[in-house]
Amino acid sequence: MGEPAIAAEAHNSAPACHAIAVDGSAASGKSTVGQRLAADLGYPFLDTGIMYRAMTVVALDRQLDISDEGALGELVRSVEMRVELAVPSTGKASKISVDGVDVTDRLRSQAVEDAVSLVSQIQAIRKAMVALQREIAGRQPVVMAGRDIGTVVLPDANLKIYLEASLEERARRRHQEFEAFGRDASRDAVHADLERRDRIDSERDVSPLRPANDAHVIDTDGLTMEEVLREALSLVRGGTDDEE
Ligand code: DC
Repeated sequence: MGEPAIAAEAHNSAPACHAIAVDGSAASGKSTVGQRLAADLGYPFLDTGIMYRAMTVVALDRQLDISDEGALGELVRSVEMRVELAVPSTGKASKISVDGVDVTDRLRSQAVEDAVSLVSQIQAIRKAMVALQREIAGRQPVVMAGRDIGTVVLPDANLKIYLEASLEERARRRHQEFEAFGRDASRDAVHADLERRDRIDSERDVSPLRPANDAHVIDTDGLTMEEVLREALSLVRGGTDDEE
């Protein structure tokens, strides 16, 4: 397709609808928190990582060199991405397709884990993903989780939450998740992979990972997920309509 949905003009206007941004590094708990807030509010939920992962699936399928900015730029301009948002209050899961092919079940393979940080550094990819994310937030209220939602995608979000957790704590959580899924990975390997992704996500030139100046930072070390959720929910219930 020519100029597709993901090549939609980036617009800088604030979303017309109510929006909550939840940012943080890999395994910081942002998806769990975001989903729970969305469930509480009856809003749809978008984990924006799935969009970068879907682009990575397609780049790998086409055997592109993922460090080739030109090739990835061409790819993102030539495909059409469609995202169906999760609706946690009804149990509806998200779905994502590229050029009509549903890639939802392929987002968490090891090949994608290894390549996605590199793909998400490419400026043309980020530009297209940000444009689509803004378009989505302009259509309906949403809880959106990612790395740059509060800083770049939705700078005027009604509430911004940034979850912080030490590398040790995140490695522990991610390893537990892998074990629950029956996925074979040593704690050391999980730790090393998170460290690598942190470095790429926070040192990249475009939209590096950092809290927005007006984000509510929750340091989750030493807190249970229930305690983190309680704090996040109290921020939401405490008046999300306030200008931050
Ligand atoms: O949250 P996650 O692990 O599913 O994210 C996958 C990758 O996408 C990760 O390397 C960071 C990147 N990402 C990003 O750069 N910006 C976002 N808003 C969301 C994810």
